Amino acid sequence: MKIRTNFSLKALNSLNVSAITPEIFFPTKLEELSELPQSKVAKSYILGEGSNTLFCQKNAPIIIKPSLVGIEVTESDECFQISAACAENWHDLVLFCVNNGIYGLENLALIPGSVGAAPVQNIGAYGVEVGDFIERITWFDFASKALIDFSKADCQFAYRNSIFKQALSGKGIITHVHFSLPKAWQAVNSYQGLSEIDLPITPQAIMAKVMQLRQAKLPEPKQLPNAGSFFKNPLVSVDFFAILQEKYPTIPFYKQANGEMKLAAGWLIEQAGLKGFREAGIGIHEKQALVLINYQGKSGQEIVAFARFIQEKVQAKFNVHLDPEVRFIGGDELNDIACLGSQK
Ligand code: EPU
Repeated sequence: MKIRTNFSLKALNSLNVSAITPEIFFPTKLEELSELPQSKVAKSYILGEGSNTLFCQKNAPIIIKPSLVGIEVTESDECFQISAACAENWHDLVLFCVNNGIYGLENLALIPGSVGAAPVQNIGAYGVEVGDFIERITWFDFASKALIDFSKADCQFAYRNSIFKQALSGKGIITHVHFSLPKAWQAVNSYQGLSEIDLPITPQAIMAKVMQLRQAKLPEPKQLPNAGSFFKNPLVSVDFFAILQEKYPTIPFYKQANGEMKLAAGWLIEQAGLKGFREAGIGIHEKQALVLINYQGKSGQEIVAFARFIQEKVQAKFNVHLDPEVRFIGGDELNDIACLGSQK
C-alpha cells in the first residue's frame, strides 16, 4: 500500500488550504484495508476528493485516502443495480449511467467529490438526494476488520446527513455504494429552473440543464478554490418562520415533511449584504452567496474566522444560526472540531 509521511494536503482539498498530515495511507484493494494499523486508524480522517473538507489547522490528522475503483452493473426486470467503488468520481458515475441508458442520478450531475463521500453527507441537488437511490452500502469496520453491509434504512439519510457523519464517523470506511435505479424512469423536474425544459423531458435534457445551471452559479474549484455550499440551509420552526415572513415577505422557504421550514442560507447571506463581499483574500461568491472562495490561498484558521463573521452577521439580522455544510477538521482530533457551531 502506498504510504507517505509529512505529506502536503494542499492539492487534496478544493479550498486549497495548506495543511500537512504526519502520515497518509492510500489503500487500493480491500485486502489492504486490513493492513491499516489499528492504533492509527482510530485517529485518522477519511478523505475523498476533499471537496467538502476544511483543514482548520496547519497540522492535519493522519489521513486515509481510500483509492478503490471499479463499477459493476447488473440488472433485473425492474432495475439496474450499480455497484461503484468509493474512489470513483461522482460526476463520472452519473455520466456513465446516463450514457448507458441508466437513469435517476442525472439531477446530481457535476457535484464535486467521490462516490464514497456522496452518502456521508447525502449529497443533493435539484430535487434529488443520493440516498433516494442507494440500496445498500459496504463498509469496512475498523474495530472488527470486517466488511459490513448497511441497508438504506441503516444509513439514516437526512438532509446533508447520515449515520456515517454521526455515530459511524471515524469508525470505518465506505468501500462500495450499491445503487438501485428503476427502469421505469420518472423525471424530477419540479425544481426552479428545471420546469422550463422542452417536452418530451429526457434524462439527457435534465442533465444538460442541471449542468448549465450549476456552471452559471457555482465556481470551478480549480479556478476559484471553494467547497460548494459552505453552509447548510437552516431549518426553523413554523412559529419562528411566521415571525420572519411577516418582516421579510419575500423570504424563500421549503416546507418539510416534519412540519419544519427550510430557509435558503444563500438568500439570508445576500440580504445581510454579504453577496460578493471580499476581505483579505477570502470572499463570498458574486453569483451564489452560499459559496465561500479562498481567493489567495489563505489558511484554514483564516477561513474559520471569515465564516464566523458571516454567521454573526446573519445571526444579528435574522436570529438564525447557520451550520457549516463543510466538514471542519482539526489537528490531532478524530472528530470534526466544534469551532463553528454544531454539525448536526
Ligand atoms: N438565493 C439568493 N441568493 C443567493 C443564493 C440563493 O437569494 O446568493 C435564493 C434563490 O433565489 C432561491 C433560494 O435562495 O430562492 C435557493 O437557491 P438555489 O436554488 O440556488 O439553491 P440553494 O438552496 O442555495 C441548494 C444546495 C446546493 C444545490 C442547490 C440546487 C444546500 C446547502 N445547497 O442550494 O448544493 O446545488 O440547492 O438544488 O442545500 C452543495 O451542497 O454544495 C450545493 C451546491
